[in-house]
Amino acid sequence: MRRLLVTHALPYANGPLHLGHLLGYIQADIWVRFQRMCGNDVTFVAGEDAHGTPIMLAAEKAGLSPERFVAEIKQKHERDFKDFNVVHDCYHTTHSPENRRLSERIYRALRDAGHIARREVEQAYDPVKGMFLPDRYVKGVCPNCAAPDQYGDNCEDCGATYSVRDLKSPYSVISGAAPSFKPSEHYFFKLSQLQDSVATWLDGAQVHESVKAKLREWLDAGLKDWDISRDAPYFGFAIPDLGPDAPGKYFYVWLDAPIGYFASLLALLDGDEARLDEFIGAGSTAEMWHFLGKDIINFHGLFWPAMLRGAGLRQPTGLAVNGYLTVNGAKMSKSRGTFIQARTYLDCGLNPEYLRYYFAAKSTPGVDDIDLNLDDFVARVNSDLVGKYVNIASRCAGFIHSHFDGTLAPELPEPIQHHTTDSVVQSGESTYDLEKFVAAGKQIRAAYESRDFAKAIRQVMSLTDIANQYIDGVRPWLLAKSNRTSELWGACTLALNLFRFLTVYLKPILPALAQDAESFLNIPPLSWADADRPLLDHVIKPYKPLATRIDPAKIKAMIEASKENLAPMNPTPNHSAAEPAQDQPAYATIDDFKKIELRIARIDNAEVVEGADKLLRLTLDVGELGKREVFAGIKSAYAPESLVGRLTVVVANLAPRKMRFGVSEGMVLAASGEDGRPFLLWPDSGARAGMIVR
Ligand code: 2FM
Ligand code: ZN
Repeated sequence: MRRLLVTHALPYANGPLHLGHLLGYIQADIWVRFQRMCGNDVTFVAGEDAHGTPIMLAAEKAGLSPERFVAEIKQKHERDFKDFNVVHDCYHTTHSPENRRLSERIYRALRDAGHIARREVEQAYDPVKGMFLPDRYVKGVCPNCAAPDQYGDNCEDCGATYSVRDLKSPYSVISGAAPSFKPSEHYFFKLSQLQDSVATWLDGAQVHESVKAKLREWLDAGLKDWDISRDAPYFGFAIPDLGPDAPGKYFYVWLDAPIGYFASLLALLDGDEARLDEFIGAGSTAEMWHFLGKDIINFHGLFWPAMLRGAGLRQPTGLAVNGYLTVNGAKMSKSRGTFIQARTYLDCGLNPEYLRYYFAAKSTPGVDDIDLNLDDFVARVNSDLVGKYVNIASRCAGFIHSHFDGTLAPELPEPIQHHTTDSVVQSGESTYDLEKFVAAGKQIRAAYESRDFAKAIRQVMSLTDIANQYIDGVRPWLLAKSNRTSELWGACTLALNLFRFLTVYLKPILPALAQDAESFLNIPPLSWADADRPLLDHVIKPYKPLATRIDPAKIKAMIEASKENLAPMNPTPNHSAAEPAQDQPAYATIDDFKKIELRIARIDNAEVVEGADKLLRLTLDVGELGKREVFAGIKSAYAPESLVGRLTVVVANLAPRKMRFGVSEGMVLAASGEDGRPFLLWPDSGARAGMIVR
């Protein structure tokens, strides 16, 4: 029996889970369930990745303490995990006493072993917000290609990487202010000292060759010291032992995030550090496996093994790395409705097991991106899962009840040779080979072990074909008609046994379906060892449909609902301004207000409209909503050229209105007094096109 500690990447506690998150989580869960079915002792832990600037700011925006904010998101994530049957032994959080204790322990061990250095660095600082800015929070003009609105560390237009100091016309994404540059003392983990030990670990670790190659590339280039500290304000753990002259230094979120795996385990072990050390101590005989996405292999394949080695702890046994999820062949997109949240999938009435099945059918040990093609998804689930696998049971169970009191035959029928020369195959003539089903189990097991779930499913599906061919050949319905009862009994007993074998093989992927199958077969939970002998002379329960086909209308609904998730509020399709009823005060509720989507727009162009004496035609840039053309009755007050480049406020979800001169796709806001002269609204400096006004 092997002992394994398995983790998956911890989701940031600042937003809902989407299908891209679920891919790696489901892969981990499948593997864990498989290992347990083989009798191995598995501990499966994860939790919230709670720290860092984005979460601190998101909490502030929500008007909540970060603790409360994280706790609320955690609850939502846990509900998603449960509903997708991703079941952890402990789901904890990195903002926990256990994680503080372990982060301090590991940091002190690194420091005492001489792996920590201090150095002054100069960093962008937001003078309005009063905080240091991570590179991602500074934007400006690319020093290489002059593209506007590029991040402080790299340009998405030309791909250049640079230092934030080189960015032209920089501004803080938080306040809009131009950043200053201030020195601050930072703590560095001296990775270069541990570089050789990481290389040695990598040679022996179970990591896909393509990932190893990438990690070796970085190793060959030489590891730079890693900045593990951040200045206040920061949501994280204060670095211990710094003394009164160095206040307000925190661990960078990526230092304590993977330690969170151990914190979760420690919570599971009721804080017993001695037992924890059986897993994480240098002499541990347990295996340690991390499931993660390919975007974070540097943290898990370089920094983390270095930290562990430097702190005298054991290193991972293996990394199971997944590629990105694409939907319908492209990056998940909010406007196409393919940025699908886990909850939206469920709310549209789609069975979570079907997504597990599809992900598994596409999962290989490699790190290629995986495409969720929604048409293929429907077709595969309907034809493979419902049409082939479940069909075996539904074709045969009825006869066992109608003819044999629900009892399986005491023995399997003799295999009969096909009369291949006969053009007419008599009912009752069909070969079968149970050995084949038993033998396939070994290959399927090996496929699971190497996380080649796609291969496992291919093999299972070819067995379902054999089972269905058997039923097609033996034709139980004709046997029943012609009262060949003993043959009927044997044939249906055999078919249900094949179904039972297949259930064992699919169970890691389809835990809920397997559970229903077990209760139909009236048997205790199946394990891998059950796939070596038939179930005979045994009373089963009446058959209830185990799975139903996907209605493509649900997929459509999911896409539509995902598009709606894009806007912070749903645009009302038909908005004749509601008159308040006579007996109600004319208050707008907050929900009424929220129906109006106000956005900052930049006036890209303004021109007079031929034949209209009051109107200007404005071309607006509304950030992520794109360009809009709007007609505004402001000609009397503004020269068109004076407006170009200005920011203003637009009602972004007003139904487009057809006018004599074209379609107006929104409305800009202006104040006016008695004389009707309009005064356009103008946001404070720092606002950017597309920002929501609330
Ligand atoms: O990339 C991410 O989403 C991180 N929250 C993953 C952390 S994994 C582990 F190290 F905590
Ligand atoms: Zn550029």
